[in-house]
Amino acid sequence: MAVDLQQTHIPVLCKEMVETLDPTPGKMYVDGTFGGGGYTRAILNKGVSKVIAFDRDNDAIKRAQSFTQEFGDRFEIIHDCFSAMDKYLKPESMDGIVFDFGISSYQVDEAHRGFSFRQNGPLDMRMGVGAAYTAADVVNTFKERDIAEILHVYGEEPRAKKISKAIIAARSVKLFETTQELATLIRTIVPSQDGFDPATLTFQGLRIFVNNELIEIERALQQSNKLLPLGGRLVTIAFHALEDRLVKNHSRVAFNHQEFLCMYSSINRKVITPSLDEIRKNPRCRSAKLRGFIKEIKYR
Ligand SMILES: C[S@@+](CC[C@H](N)C(=O)[O-])C[C@H]1O[C@@H](n2cnc3c(N)ncnc32)[C@H](O)[C@@H]1O
Repeated sequence: MAVDLQQTHIPVLCKEMVETLDPTPGKMYVDGTFGGGGYTRAILNKGVSKVIAFDRDNDAIKRAQSFTQEFGDRFEIIHDCFSAMDKYLKPESMDGIVFDFGISSYQVDEAHRGFSFRQNGPLDMRMGVGAAYTAADVVNTFKERDIAEILHVYGEEPRAKKISKAIIAARSVKLFETTQELATLIRTIVPSQDGFDPATLTFQGLRIFVNNELIEIERALQQSNKLLPLGGRLVTIAFHALEDRLVKNHSRVAFNHQEFLCMYSSINRKVITPSLDEIRKNPRCRSAKLRGFIKEIKYR
C-alpha cells in the first residue's frame, strides 16, 4: 500500500513542546515518536546539533525520507520501538527527549490500518514493530475473561463484561474480520453516552493491548533516566489518563533502575493543555496533556 505523503498530522501543542524542551544549538535530542515529523522539524529549526527520531510504523519511516534529504546528518530515523532506545544510544548522551504518545492522524485516517470505528477496514490495529497479535486475533481467539480484562484495564470500559460476552456469542456464528463488524455489535448492545460512540473504549482497549502501549511507555521512561545527563529535559504529551498516570508516577518516584536512579523536577507549574483555539482548529488534540521535567539528581 502506497503512503500518502500529502496527508497531514497537525502537531499538538507544538509551540508549548518547544518552550518546555528548550532545544538549544549544539545539543542532541530524541523524538521518540516521529509520526509526520512535526516535532522533529520544530526542534531542528532551533539549530540543534541533531535529532534522532524513532517510530515503529513503516509508513512513518517512509515519511522520514524527505527529512533525511532536507536535514542530512542532523537527522536520523530509527525504525524501532522507543522502548529499544538504549540499544542505539549511549548513557547520558541526549540533552532532551520528547514523546508524543498514542497514534497519529495518518494511522487513524487510513481505514486499512483498522484503528477507526468510523471507517471500515480489517480489524488490525498494529502500529508496526513489536505487535504480535492483531485486534482480530484478540476478539476471535482470546477467552471471554481475558477480553473483558483487556477492555476493563486498557479501555477503562465499565461495560467490559457485557461486551466481552457478546463478542464470544457473535464469534461462534462468524469470526470478526472488520472494524465495522465489531463496532456495529457494540453499538447494538450498549447505549451511547454523552454523544460518544459506544465503540470508543473497546477500540482504545484493544489498540493499547495490541501495541503493548503502556509497557512501551514505562520502559521508555526508565531508559530516559539513563539517556539524559543532569539538566537534561524530558517532555511528554499524553492523550488519556492511563498514559498520563505513568508519566506522573515516573516523575514522582525515582525508579529503582540500578545505577541510573534519578529524580526529576517539573518545568511547568501545571500540566499544559491545548487552548480553545487549538481545539477548535484540531479537535483531536482536546485531551492532550503536556508535562516537562528536568533530571536533577542522580544516585549511583
Ligand atoms: C501522535 S504520533 C506523533 C506525531 C508527531 N509528534 C508529529 O509531530 O508528527 C505518534 C507516533 O508514535 C509512533 N509510536 C507509538 N508508539 C510507539 C513506540 N512504542 N515506539 C515507536 N514509535 C511509536 C506511532 O507509530 C506514531 O507515528
